[in-house]
Amino acid sequence: MTDSFTIAIDGPAAAGKGTISKAVATEFGFAYLDTGLLYRAVGARVLTGVDPIEAAQTLQPEDLDRDDLRTAEVAQAASKVAVISEVRSALVDFQRAFARRAGGAVLDGRDIGTVICPNAEAKLYVTASAEVRAKRRFLELTGKGEVTSLETVLADVKMRDDRDMNRAEAPMKPAEDAVVIDTSDLSIEQALELALKTIEAVRRT
Ligand code: DC
Repeated sequence: MTDSFTIAIDGPAAAGKGTISKAVATEFGFAYLDTGLLYRAVGARVLTGVDPIEAAQTLQPEDLDRDDLRTAEVAQAASKVAVISEVRSALVDFQRAFARRAGGAVLDGRDIGTVICPNAEAKLYVTASAEVRAKRRFLELTGKGEVTSLETVLADVKMRDDRDMNRAEAPMKPAEDAVVIDTSDLSIEQALELALKTIEAVRRT
């Protein structure tokens, strides 16, 4: 037995799960893994001509540090490679090993509570309407200097949701025992407070 405690935080893009996950990890002193970065790193390599399965099987930790992984183009490429079963299975061991770290871990993604860590001690599914998420992502992208429109970002968000929810392998959905938090009408502070209360309640049981 180890003293590992795993918190799984799933949900669609720009629902606030990254912000919540980082803050939760800081609050509890846990390690944090943004699993979307794994798929983004594979997607980024595919954009340079590497085969997706090979890119996943030979992924190195330093590939996660590339600073071009946050673009809209890489997000779509990530969502496309995430449909491929061999890509997903190549990334499983790394995620599970991370989740079992002594001291506790927070993993955010699409299938953490359902597939990667079905026995996670706490599971959240953080969501929001597509319109609210598109607006947040639009502000984030333009804030970083990317040139785009709200309509383009909304179409991208919907396309990615559709692909992530309807793929055969590990589709994005709340685990049966996940607590769903809809952040559409919540401030970051309110969403975080709700997430922390939910996890605290589980930790005490
Ligand atoms: O969380 P993100 O936006 O960085 O994720 C990018 C893409 O990676 C997302 O559209 C689908 C895929 N992904 C996945 O299939 N499973 C995960 N656990 C995390 C991300």
